[in-house]
Amino acid sequence: MSKARILVTGGAGFIGTAILSELTRYGYDLYVLDNFSFGKRSYLTLPEDHIIEADIRDREAVAEAVASVSPHHIIHLAAIHFIPYCNEHPFESSDINISGTMAVLDAAKLAPELRSVFFASTAAVYPIFDGPLAETHTPHPLDIYGLSKLAGERLCHAFYLETGIPTIVCRFFNAFGPMETNPHLIPVIHQQLLEKGPQIQLGNLDTLRDFIHVSDMGRAVRMLLEKFSSGYDTFNLGSGVEYSGREIVAAFEKSLGQKIEVEQDPKRMRPSDRKHLLADVSKLRAYIDWKPEVGITEGIATLYQGEKV
Ligand SMILES: NC(=O)c1ccc[n+]([C@@H]2O[C@H](COP(=O)([O-])OP(=O)(O)OC[C@H]3O[C@@H](n4cnc5c(N)ncnc54)[C@H](O)[C@@H]3O)[C@@H](O)[C@H]2O)c1
Repeated sequence: MSKARILVTGGAGFIGTAILSELTRYGYDLYVLDNFSFGKRSYLTLPEDHIIEADIRDREAVAEAVASVSPHHIIHLAAIHFIPYCNEHPFESSDINISGTMAVLDAAKLAPELRSVFFASTAAVYPIFDGPLAETHTPHPLDIYGLSKLAGERLCHAFYLETGIPTIVCRFFNAFGPMETNPHLIPVIHQQLLEKGPQIQLGNLDTLRDFIHVSDMGRAVRMLLEKFSSGYDTFNLGSGVEYSGREIVAAFEKSLGQKIEVEQDPKRMRPSDRKHLLADVSKLRAYIDWKPEVGITEGIATLYQGEKV
């Protein structure tokens, strides 16, 4: 039997690439819609006629793409997501993350064979909290990015109520791995080590984040998609383990077998940084037979293997 057709918006980005590589291994018929603003066409290994260059805010183009692919599943990842960029470009970010999501969902309403929609939300919908965050925790985003993603979640819920099409909201925590497109902590350390050697400059090293390797993320997304067949639900997707900036530097040291000297750079400190951001992943782990397989040190080693640029 031929495998389902899946349209991935934002599939040329960091997480999209990992999800596509997982789904390719499982023989799915894959299509990507991306405007290549952050993602790269060269990351894609699909045939040209499976790649649609379009902006998700272009309602006509999105409707045309969905009509021509007639997907069984839509994985909606396209978004502006680097928080400092979103803070500097709040109108552009909310336009893409909210109006763009509306355009994708509107097009999805007319897809006759659609079996589910998957929406990439974020841990940034949660308030400041010092313990593990479960899906039942009341959202309280701190910035325009989290706010725009929470709006996306609500739009997905309205979409589900209107259409009855199964809809999964997945709150991603901090992904790391090869081909990261945005200057988060791990790619910044990696880049500085490549360019300047073992003396690097970083911001706050005491904040803790739940880092999950993109390959573990890709596997969980595929498993969720394969299992979820009715209703609307929300799942956290993280590793369930927090690491401080210092621990990340130590993992680089271990992976490289080399001492790294860190100078703290006040310019790199984010003003309203939350100290913790940790996922409670018990709901996801009870739903699918999944657990993260790539630890932080071996995950950092994957940055140095076969990176495409
Ligand atoms: N990376 C993380 O740690 C993380 C954490 C939480 C949530 N997320 C969410 O996961 C998704 C993927 O994130 P990522 O890290 O791969 O980011 P990314 O920037 O690498 O990928 C986003 C993709 O969307 C595309 N895109 C952006 N604007 C577009 C538009 N207007 N029209 C069409 N395509 C557009 C970009 O070109 C890129 O390929 C996003 O929705 C993001 O908010 C990521």
